[in-house]
Amino acid sequence: MTTTTRRTAVAVIGAGPAGLLLGHLLRAEGVDCVVIERQSADYVLSRIRAGVLEQGTVGLMERLGLDARLKAEGLPHGGFNLADGERLIRIDVAALTGQCVTVYGQTELTRDLMDAAAPRGLEVIYEAGEVALHDIDSDAPFVTYARDGLAQRIDARIIVGCDGFHGPSRQAIPASVGRAFERVYPFGWLGILADVAPCNHELIYANHERGFALASMRSATRSRYYVDVPLTERIEDWSDDRIWDELAVRLGPEAAARMTRGPAIEKSIAPLRSFVFEPMRHGSLLLCGDSAHIVPPTGAKGLNLAASDVHYAAEALTAFFRHNDADAIAGYSARALARVWKSERFSWSLTKLMHRFPDDGPFERRMQVAELDYIASSEAAQRAIAENYVGLPV
Ligand code: APR
Ligand code: PHB
Repeated sequence: MTTTTRRTAVAVIGAGPAGLLLGHLLRAEGVDCVVIERQSADYVLSRIRAGVLEQGTVGLMERLGLDARLKAEGLPHGGFNLADGERLIRIDVAALTGQCVTVYGQTELTRDLMDAAAPRGLEVIYEAGEVALHDIDSDAPFVTYARDGLAQRIDARIIVGCDGFHGPSRQAIPASVGRAFERVYPFGWLGILADVAPCNHELIYANHERGFALASMRSATRSRYYVDVPLTERIEDWSDDRIWDELAVRLGPEAAARMTRGPAIEKSIAPLRSFVFEPMRHGSLLLCGDSAHIVPPTGAKGLNLAASDVHYAAEALTAFFRHNDADAIAGYSARALARVWKSERFSWSLTKLMHRFPDDGPFERRMQVAELDYIASSEAAQRAIAENYVGLPV
């Protein structure tokens, strides 16, 4: 079979938020790149993911001039709540940090990046099969894939893996140089999306004796809720009514009284995992986003961490292609990982605080109560949570 070969500076694998954002940042700096995605654009947009943006993530969209819809439709939130069955502890993020988060679905952000690609000359190749990385140890790596039954090859100077947890990029790094750190949690989040008004104007994370619950939203008329469930649960066994009943108990009577029920537009169970792969660069390959790390969703950090990786990667690649600065590429992994580990720590600690682990005994439960008491009574503790939630400096 003949192979069509072409050349670019940066081959980006994966057109999720990380890959698309990186593609736009590189285009804006005049660095030639191509984004290669396994799925169709519609499939990418059908994935329902979290929806809380740090100010830094919003800032990247602003810099690209792609923030119009985000500014019009995104909901600025100056605080959120931790509930423990008896009280609601409000973390006044705005007062404690001077910043806000923006509630705006990841799917919408992805759509904005996708819609702007063609008009801005960012090439995204969808439905690319059998994507494989080659010669990443050399200065002349290349990507092969199949499209419409034809073999394709893209020669690049650098490849960036933005292909999520299951993509081929991380796996291309030899086991002898990489190290994975992992924690798998003994529960998953069952999420429901419904066109009903949210029960509260801010998010509520609840730790109830029956388990975790989260009241979130996408807009004034669309709500997103979660409860944690054992990994053995099957979504078929959770009717909409059963989910609403469980939410009403776990979120507490006040929130339950304000909760509007409605048919699920989407419901699914997602496992929770903490994962970091080091290093985030090997040879001519950089990793960004979920390809290098996963956080449990409790801190809403997944997309934001992908965005800060991409920011570091775009800076390094711009310095490299503009000024031949190879040190910038060499320093990418350490720079990105320093922020990744702090987000991992925050996501893990909030997960530990707000969930009932099956192996936990009375001692661990008292530790949760003491920590929630401390948070309720200490502005310093609230400030520490607020500055992590709003996003640590990039
Ligand atoms: N070839 C090409 N593309 C691939 C391949 C492959 N073999 N395997 C996976 N991909 C694509 C996926 O189809 C997906 O569109 O890579 C993309 C990865 O996107 P995400 O999983 O969204 O990961 P990322 O862009 O790093 O976003 C991080 O978004 O998905 C959330 O939990 C995640 O919130 C986090 C953030
Ligand atoms: C969501 O709205 O989907 C969401 C919000 C906050 C989280 C996780 C998910 O921590």
